[in-house]
Amino acid sequence: MSINLKHVGAAVGVYASAVGLSFAYIRSRSAPPSSCCCDAKVVPFAERSTEQYEKIARVYDDKISMDESVMGIGFLRSHLIGTRARGRVLEVAAGTGRNLGYYKFREADLPWWLRLLGSAAEGSVTELVLCEKSRSMAEVVSEKVARLARASSCLNNVRVDVGDCTDLSKYPDEMFDTVIDTFGLCSFDDPVAALREMQRVCKKDGGRILLIEHGRTNTWAWLDKVLDDGKDKHIELWGCEWNRDIDQIIRDSKLEVEWCDKWHFGTTRVIAARRGKRLDK
Ligand SMILES: C[S@@+](CC[C@H](N)C(=O)[O-])C[C@H]1O[C@@H](n2cnc3c(N)ncnc32)[C@H](O)[C@@H]1O
Repeated sequence: MSINLKHVGAAVGVYASAVGLSFAYIRSRSAPPSSCCCDAKVVPFAERSTEQYEKIARVYDDKISMDESVMGIGFLRSHLIGTRARGRVLEVAAGTGRNLGYYKFREADLPWWLRLLGSAAEGSVTELVLCEKSRSMAEVVSEKVARLARASSCLNNVRVDVGDCTDLSKYPDEMFDTVIDTFGLCSFDDPVAALREMQRVCKKDGGRILLIEHGRTNTWAWLDKVLDDGKDKHIELWGCEWNRDIDQIIRDSKLEVEWCDKWHFGTTRVIAARRGKRLDK
């Protein structure tokens, strides 16, 4: 059977367009109940964002689950975190703990001969610290961790810290083997500062920084315009700036990107990186 390349190309094009348009549509529709900013006072982004996460924490999972399924976000989380998070892990801006199910914890109680075979010890997570700024989001993720810990002893090595990831001074330099952020750079008041702190606490030798982020495409002007035009509404609904230039943020942070995959017309980036060599200069 011969494959007609034109047909394959057309099918891929139609699929990509559908996903791109769905992204713009889904992310701007049905959102959690939000506050009404009726006064003319200009509220700084950080305040608007924090206030919104406090409000939507309890409904966040219900509201976003369907959208994430349609967009295949679970696949991206599993692809990045399930296969690459290892050792002592810090996840910043953990939200409601949507990555929790993808971590592969070390099965410490496997027999030695199985561990010798490799898979259990290599590439597995020994400890997980979840850092989250919003108290309400942190409450939700703490409850989830407690529930999961009752079901699996591996989850006993998970801790939730309420804190701001632009100041991780409570963790020493190079404390973690893997540092993770998913969909956080769009919400941080100072995303470059957050990335620099994430690099500081990540091991110089063998440490990895894993990111899934959304932002402007820097390729498709029409789609970037949709994001720019919908920015204020999106902050009001979801607490994040969806039109940020992730490439520029990463360059400014001096992160050393190993690879970057683009999805959803380039609005989503999946990135594996290392602590930048120029960070300390
Ligand atoms: C869009 S949610 C993403 C949640 C989660 N990472 C996920 O993948 O579903 C962004 C999260 O970042 C948190 N956040 C915003 N600024 C933060 C900061 N400076 N430090 C830590 N967390 C922050 C918010 O409270 C919110 O939970």
